[in-house]
Amino acid sequence: MKGIVLAGGKGTRLYPMTKAVSKQLLPVFDKPLIYYPISVLMLAGIKDILIISTPEDIPQYEKLLGSGESMGVNFSYIVQEKPRGLADAFILGESFIGDDNVCLVLGDNVFYGQSLSSVLERAVARKEGATVFGYPVGDAREFGVVEFDDDNNVISIEEKPAHPKSKYAVPGLYFYDNDVVRIAKDVKPSARGEIEITSVNNAYLQNGKLKVELLGRGMAWLDTGSPIGLLKAAEFVEAVQSRQGLYVACLEEIAWRKGFIWDDKLEAVGNELKMTDYGKYLLSLLQD
Ligand code: G1P
Repeated sequence: MKGIVLAGGKGTRLYPMTKAVSKQLLPVFDKPLIYYPISVLMLAGIKDILIISTPEDIPQYEKLLGSGESMGVNFSYIVQEKPRGLADAFILGESFIGDDNVCLVLGDNVFYGQSLSSVLERAVARKEGATVFGYPVGDAREFGVVEFDDDNNVISIEEKPAHPKSKYAVPGLYFYDNDVVRIAKDVKPSARGEIEITSVNNAYLQNGKLKVELLGRGMAWLDTGSPIGLLKAAEFVEAVQSRQGLYVACLEEIAWRKGFIWDDKLEAVGNELKMTDYGKYLLSLLQD
C-alpha cells in the first residue's frame, strides 16, 4: 500500500502565521505538524509516501524530510499548482500509486489513541473498496458527515451539510483500492470549485464498497485549523509526553519499533539531535 500526505493550501485561516510558512510546517509542541499524519502512515506499515504541496513549499518539505532514509521510508514529492480539492491527490499521484492500494492523510490532521494501530491494520487488510472513519464531534457542519445504520452500513456521506444527518465527522484519513484513481478523474467540481473527497466516497457508496469504522472516545482527533486548535493540540502532546515519558509521532522511534531501521540509524539521528530533548529521547530508547 502507498501513502499520500496532502499538505497544500494557503492556510488563510491561520494568517499571519502561515503567510510565509506552510501550515503543515508549523510546530505542534516539539515537532512540525506534518510529522503527526506521517506517523499515522508509518503506523499503518506504509513505507512509500508521497508528499503533495505548493510549488513554494515543496522545497521546504524536501529540506525537512529528505529521502526518508533515516526513517527507513521513501519520500517522494510532487507539486500541486493549484488547490483543486482533495481528490486531486489521486490524479497527481497516479504514477506514484501504480497498481497499489492507497491511503490518503491530510497534512493537518492529528490522531492519537491506544487502538489506532489496530484500526489502521484492519483498514490496510481490506483489499477491496474504501474505508473512511467516523468521529463524533459537537458541530459536524464544517466536515464531511457520515450517516449509518445499526450495523454500521453507510446510508449517506455529505460534505459540510447545513443540517448534518449525524454527529459523526469524517476525519482526513482515507483508505482506497486502486479504483480511486479512475474514480477521482470522473469527479465533477463542487459548488466551491473543488473535486471533493466526499464525491469519491459517494462513488464507492453507490457501488456498495464504502466501509465506515467508528473511532471511539478513547481516540483523539485534534483540530489544527485555528490558533486555539493548534495551541490545544500542542498542550495535548506535551501533556501525554511529559506524563508518560513516551513521545507522540516520533518518526524515528516508530521506524525503529516497526523494524524499518536498526539501532545504528536510531543512534546516528539521536546523536545528530542530542542537543535537543528529541535527540536525547531517541538515544534513551536504546538504553531501555
Ligand atoms: C476536508 C474534507 C472533509 C473532512 C475534513 C477533515 O475538509 O473535505 O470532508 O471532514 O477535511 O479534516 P476541508 O479541510 O477541505 O475543509
